[in-house]
Amino acid sequence: MIKKAEFVVSNADPSNCPKPDRAEVAFIGRSNVGKSSLINALTDKKGLAKTSQKPGKTQLINHFLINDRWYMVDLPGYGFAKVNVKVKEGWENMIHTYLMKRENLCGVFVLIDSRLEPQKIDLDFLLWCGTQGVPAALVFTKADKQSKSKTSLNVHKFLEKTEELFEEAPDYFVTSAESGLGKEELLTFIEELVKE
Ligand code: GTP
Ligand code: MG
Repeated sequence: MIKKAEFVVSNADPSNCPKPDRAEVAFIGRSNVGKSSLINALTDKKGLAKTSQKPGKTQLINHFLINDRWYMVDLPGYGFAKVNVKVKEGWENMIHTYLMKRENLCGVFVLIDSRLEPQKIDLDFLLWCGTQGVPAALVFTKADKQSKSKTSLNVHKFLEKTEELFEEAPDYFVTSAESGLGKEELLTFIEELVKE
């Protein structure tokens, strides 16, 4: 259970992140997929991570300290087309460096919009995690936005694609930051990851 959640620091440079002396999990995914909203839902704190209807809101690496013991990290999205190439490359570089170098990282959650058919950009990112040895699980977001059957169809299609890429199927969660669907299940999984 999350009893306490507080913002610690934002960084553009991964090497300035807090000392890696605690367990850490991070949320990543395309711009606007719902990373910041999921963090707010998991912590039950609406304004903790800044959200927006417009993609490109989170631009830095944001550390949140949970229960005085472990870190949750909100990252910028990938694949945001509306910033110039230099900025985009800068964000991607920052995300990649963070994921490869962060030694206390126990798990990364790759968020996937449950309304969409499998997207190449998400599969490519997942594959990159695999080749880098970054431990990734999937979180399908915004499940409240369509019927259960539509969600499970898209989830099924995505998982089918991952079967072509990996020997082992990734862990996955179906969630809604709006309704709280999947929240308890995901929290239980995270708490297991950050256990000492
Ligand atoms: P960037 O920081 O720009 O990369 O975006 P993000 O992935 O952090 O997305 P954010 O949490 O800011 O949410 C983007 C938009 O989607 C906001 O308008 C949210 O209210 C909405 N949203 C996020 N999650 C859900 C959800 O589960 N259900 C619904 N209905 N809307 C959601
Ligand atoms: Mg965000």
